[in-house]
Amino acid sequence: MKQYVIDGTFTIDGLRMEGTDIPRPGCGQVLVRIRAASLNYRDLLMATGNYSRNLKLPLVPLSDGAGEVVEVGEGVTRWKAGDRVAPIFFQNWLAGGITPDVPPSALGGGCDGILREYALFGEEGLVSLPPHLSFEEGATLPCAGVSAWNCLYSGNLTCGDTVLVMGSGGVSVFALQLAGAAGARVIATSGSDAKAERLKGLGASDVINYRSEPAWEKRVLELTGARGADIVVEVGGAGTLAQSIKATRLGGHISLLGVLSGQRGEVNPLPAVMKAIRIHGIYVGSRAMFEAMNRVISLHAIHPVIDRVFPFSEVAQAFRHLESGAHVGKVVIAL
Ligand SMILES: NC(=O)c1ccc[n+]([C@@H]2O[C@H](COP(=O)([O-])OP(=O)(O)OC[C@H]3O[C@@H](n4cnc5c(N)ncnc54)[C@H](OP(=O)(O)O)[C@@H]3O)[C@@H](O)[C@H]2O)c1
Repeated sequence: MKQYVIDGTFTIDGLRMEGTDIPRPGCGQVLVRIRAASLNYRDLLMATGNYSRNLKLPLVPLSDGAGEVVEVGEGVTRWKAGDRVAPIFFQNWLAGGITPDVPPSALGGGCDGILREYALFGEEGLVSLPPHLSFEEGATLPCAGVSAWNCLYSGNLTCGDTVLVMGSGGVSVFALQLAGAAGARVIATSGSDAKAERLKGLGASDVINYRSEPAWEKRVLELTGARGADIVVEVGGAGTLAQSIKATRLGGHISLLGVLSGQRGEVNPLPAVMKAIRIHGIYVGSRAMFEAMNRVISLHAIHPVIDRVFPFSEVAQAFRHLESGAHVGKVVIAL
């Protein structure tokens, strides 16, 4: 079988395809034929050495994929050959709060990921794909979908809430779709007027161009009658957090998960204190969150937004497309 590895070169072109044997499932393990994978911003950071250089090398990258069970090991009861599945991002996070054994179990980080034709998982480390989704669509769920879900529901999303999402990337578009399905109003920002139209088509009530309107937080306050957003899905990080605090309502919630505007910077915490805002760090989520999200995706027949699908032979081109920021939603690789 073929797989890609990060071997320490830490460039997009340094991702190397190699051949290896198809593994056989041991006790409690499931062999999955990976049919599609999708890229997250994290994968770009990982491949270029900007996430951590302290990785186990060589490392099979990527967390997000979907496929079909081909063989199960002794004692497996949850799955059988032919089942359509997706792996969970943290193989050790099934439910409840995050614990120290969870981060090292991240696919494409602490352990080998899914950019390979076949992969073994523990039987607890998989969920069923919603039946109406293709493998390409299902491959977008494990990190981007679950992170968006966690951002919204850690903030106790309620019908009628206003959610602010930033940009038109994978997490933000999922947050838009999931918040809309819950009866929330979604205000989005984007650096592109053309993408703004796409976001409106997906249900955003208003889109603010953060390039032509750099004080976008003032527009959020205007659009909400000076109240502010109930929940902010903060993917910008150090460069946007101060504005997000201004755009959040008194007693509101900021789900802090991204670093798109940079990993370092200083933010005055006092405005968040004086507004009694909850700032909640998000690190993807658990299998229980993934399963809850899948029930909603099935109920509302939500289709993840795929920008472009690349063949397995064009992984470098797929990474470059993500890096360009030209996409709306997800960049997918078909295997
Ligand atoms: N902590 C976690 O568990 C977790 C999980 C998933 C993702 N993340 C993080 O969340 C962020 C988003 O990830 P992703 O995979 O959704 O990224 P992505 O698909 O690459 O999204 C990129 C898009 O974000 C928008 N953007 C870029 N810079 C921006 C800025 N300064 N302000 C506002 N929007 C900006 C742009 O959209 P427009 O062109 O429309 O402006 C860009 O196309 C990343 O930092 C990623 O590392 C964290």
